[in-house]
Amino acid sequence: MEIDRYERYWIWAATGMLALFLGAIVLTAVSGGAHPPSHVETINPETLTVGGEFASPGVVTAPDGSLTVVVRAEFYVFRPDVVRLPAGRPVRFRVTSPDVLHGFQIVGTNVNLTVAPGYVSEATTTFTEPGEYLVVCNEYCGLGHHNMYSTIVVEAAP
Ligand code: CUA
Repeated sequence: MEIDRYERYWIWAATGMLALFLGAIVLTAVSGGAHPPSHVETINPETLTVGGEFASPGVVTAPDGSLTVVVRAEFYVFRPDVVRLPAGRPVRFRVTSPDVLHGFQIVGTNVNLTVAPGYVSEATTTFTEPGEYLVVCNEYCGLGHHNMYSTIVVEAAP
């Protein structure tokens, strides 16, 4: 089959661009630790405050020393609204909502969760730099959406 010279150039150019873009996705996924959300865990959103871990959200230290932050994202606050964590240790976040869809994005990190009622969203990260981190809701959830934020204070390890 005869393919015109310019058409052949364009086929190679398009194939090259596909390879370049795919390579960029793989590179940033590996270097930035990005991965698709896959933690499928369901929960009854109507009984969150009645009992269980989400009734008393906060930092939980397991017997083996690992840290979990349990967060309730609800009309227009994150509970707890200030979290204190040590730097340099892996921290697991578990977030859910009793009302509508919210977001849980820790600015400057790779944590960016969609928080849907009925599901527990989970992400693990390690804060290498001490400082204050802003957490924002990045899913439009209602009139107070723009006021929905919280703070994570990361302290230097002793
Ligand atoms: Cu919660 Cu926007």
